[in-house]
Amino acid sequence: MEKILEQLLEQLTIEDKAALLSQIVWETTELPINELKNFLLADGPSGIRRLKEYFDEDIYNTLPTTCYPSASAYASSWNRRLLRQLGNHLGLEAKSMGVDVLLGPGVNLKRSPLGGRNFEYYSEDPYLTGELATEYILGLQEAGTGACLKHFAANNQETRRMTINAVIDEVTLCELYLRAFEKPVKVGKPWMVMAAYNQVNGEYCAENEFLLSDILRKGWEYKGVVVTDCFAAHDLSKGILRGLNLQMPGETGQRLAERIHELLQAGEITENDLDNAISKTILLSEKIQAEKKQVDFDRERHHRFAEQVAEESIVLLKNDNSVLPLCQEECIAVIGEMAAAPRFQGGGSSHVNPWKLENALEAMKGYGHIIGYAAGYHEDSTDEALLKEAESLAGKADKAVLFLGLPEIYESEGYDRTDLAIPAAHIELLERVYLANREIIVVLSNGAPVEMPWIDKVKGVLEAYLPGEAGGPAISKILYGQVNPSGHLAETFPIVLADTPAYLNFPGGMKEVCYSEGELIGYRYYDKAGKKVRFPFGHGLSYTTFAYSGFQLEQKSGDIYVKVSVQNAGQMAGYEVVQVYAGTARERYRKPVKVLAGFDKVWMEPGDTRELTLELDKKAFQSYHPETHSWENSCGIYTISVGRSVEEILWTQDVETGLEFPGPKSQGWQIDAHTCLGDMICHSDVLEILREEFASHPKSLQFLELAQMDNPLQTSMGGLMSFQNLKRTDDTLKDGDIRRIIEKINQYCHVCTCA
Ligand code: GLC
Repeated sequence: MEKILEQLLEQLTIEDKAALLSQIVWETTELPINELKNFLLADGPSGIRRLKEYFDEDIYNTLPTTCYPSASAYASSWNRRLLRQLGNHLGLEAKSMGVDVLLGPGVNLKRSPLGGRNFEYYSEDPYLTGELATEYILGLQEAGTGACLKHFAANNQETRRMTINAVIDEVTLCELYLRAFEKPVKVGKPWMVMAAYNQVNGEYCAENEFLLSDILRKGWEYKGVVVTDCFAAHDLSKGILRGLNLQMPGETGQRLAERIHELLQAGEITENDLDNAISKTILLSEKIQAEKKQVDFDRERHHRFAEQVAEESIVLLKNDNSVLPLCQEECIAVIGEMAAAPRFQGGGSSHVNPWKLENALEAMKGYGHIIGYAAGYHEDSTDEALLKEAESLAGKADKAVLFLGLPEIYESEGYDRTDLAIPAAHIELLERVYLANREIIVVLSNGAPVEMPWIDKVKGVLEAYLPGEAGGPAISKILYGQVNPSGHLAETFPIVLADTPAYLNFPGGMKEVCYSEGELIGYRYYDKAGKKVRFPFGHGLSYTTFAYSGFQLEQKSGDIYVKVSVQNAGQMAGYEVVQVYAGTARERYRKPVKVLAGFDKVWMEPGDTRELTLELDKKAFQSYHPETHSWENSCGIYTISVGRSVEEILWTQDVETGLEFPGPKSQGWQIDAHTCLGDMICHSDVLEILREEFASHPKSLQFLELAQMDNPLQTSMGGLMSFQNLKRTDDTLKDGDIRRIIEKINQYCHVCTCA
């Protein structure tokens, strides 16, 4: 520990040290020693929620700030560069408001589209989440504001979020839920990580040994400050020993000091543990003080950037007969209250006071011939007068643009949705408009997927998500073709809720929720189950067309690259999102068919061609092994796919890669009396040993031969047998023989591992 730090710690009393363990509302503790200043935290991922009054009970009484689109929106941009800029813009704004650490990004995966806070998270895919959140963190911290990556981990629901125990097998936890955090921690290096409210496998995240100690501190070598979510600390001594540094907020003052004295006297923690816990906060405080400077920013420029983010995030889901873009001279009816009173952000701790809120109705007037506006509903209710007015207006127009979605009360931090429907009043309005006009375009404002039983009654659907304060102009520019839509879904839109993989296990019971769908969430499930969806992961239409050619696969020193040529074959400039998926040709139990392993977003003028080289994510070719708690290269044939969505695949090619899975060459792979023959014989060397050994055990040899047959029934008859089972049927096979064979194979594996 640095010398100055040691000298400082020597000057601190236990009371001083205890005080440094807790943050009081938004500030850490300031001490009159060595100028140990406090630092200020504030939410949130889409704007700076800085309370006007220090302890203001009204969490919405905040200073004006740029309200950027929701995370579910900006994740749909699939644009790493844009996310870097977004982080930088937020970092500047935070710094100008005296905020030292911004409590974001939130990277929890969307296990179910019902999650009340899904608007604040990126995706159902950990790779897309990790890539984009890493850029956001780098941009934020380049501006001198710390990031606080949250909520670590498996905070995938709001129902009983402060107590629920998420029961997740280790493979699913590591290959899916923690993967969304891994690159943001290792590459983004956030100044802070926020421990989630919930339990994971029986331990609260704020003191969870596997999460904090094994994964974050030892596995990922995270050196920053771990802070709890509000009131999320439970067993402080365990937390301190496992990597927790700060309670937000926690007990303070005398009560906390007494607690720490008790823990010290009881020997549950030592003063050295206490010093280690607070030293990270002290070091961060000193870093912040060293970088403190007054900055300012151009509000109008930031507002326009918020519009740019929205423009790149909006997803054109449907565009039959090119009903979009609208022509300037077309008579357009604008219908739906959200056109004039936009739904532009989520509810809860991320909610901010927008600097300048612009709506679509006013913006559209600048681009085309709007013959009128009808509210059609108020929030989630309507009446005959509203419906009649809307129907009449629609009847006079060439096309009707219908603004529908989820009123703020329908989705928020703190509670989950119970269905995926938009309000019945919105559907009733659509039905009435349909009677008067068949040229309907729906613009949706919602933080998460909705069911669309009405989809066949409309020609166009624009998913605007929660587009932030400048969403109105962004929507209007896309409607009128001033901007070519380039958003692609970062989550699947299912046809009905009952189709979703967590349907029977969300949000769980009073005490626990079982992630029994394992890794098969989102497209991982629908792709595996061959289940039809409304709109697939990665889907997004454009006003132009793109031609792909020149596909190539390359392997260089263990890395896999895809090369592809993309041409803008249409008349309008625009972005294209190229997606690469990888899947093992071998059918593996409860494993996805393919996963996103690479993507890029490129701009092309009409006629332009871009030669892209995408390096594929190594994790797509590895598997996590709970026996050794480690990641291993996977063996054999992988199918690489290039496409415009997980379903719209344009090219595939197989590639041989990786080491044995898992096998002798896998770090620490060992067998025992319960290892089944099927897992052993896929390694030729091990098979050879078994053949030799079973030469004197004919019954066992028979099962070994069965396990190698082509007929799946025979294969399973043999392959499922373990030494324990064989002993029951082959009385020549004694315990001593079994021990010797296991020892011989494990010795061989050990030699391989050391090789
Ligand atoms: C909330 C949220 C967290 C937020 C914190 C401070 O409970 O879970 O995301 O940063 O409290 O508002």
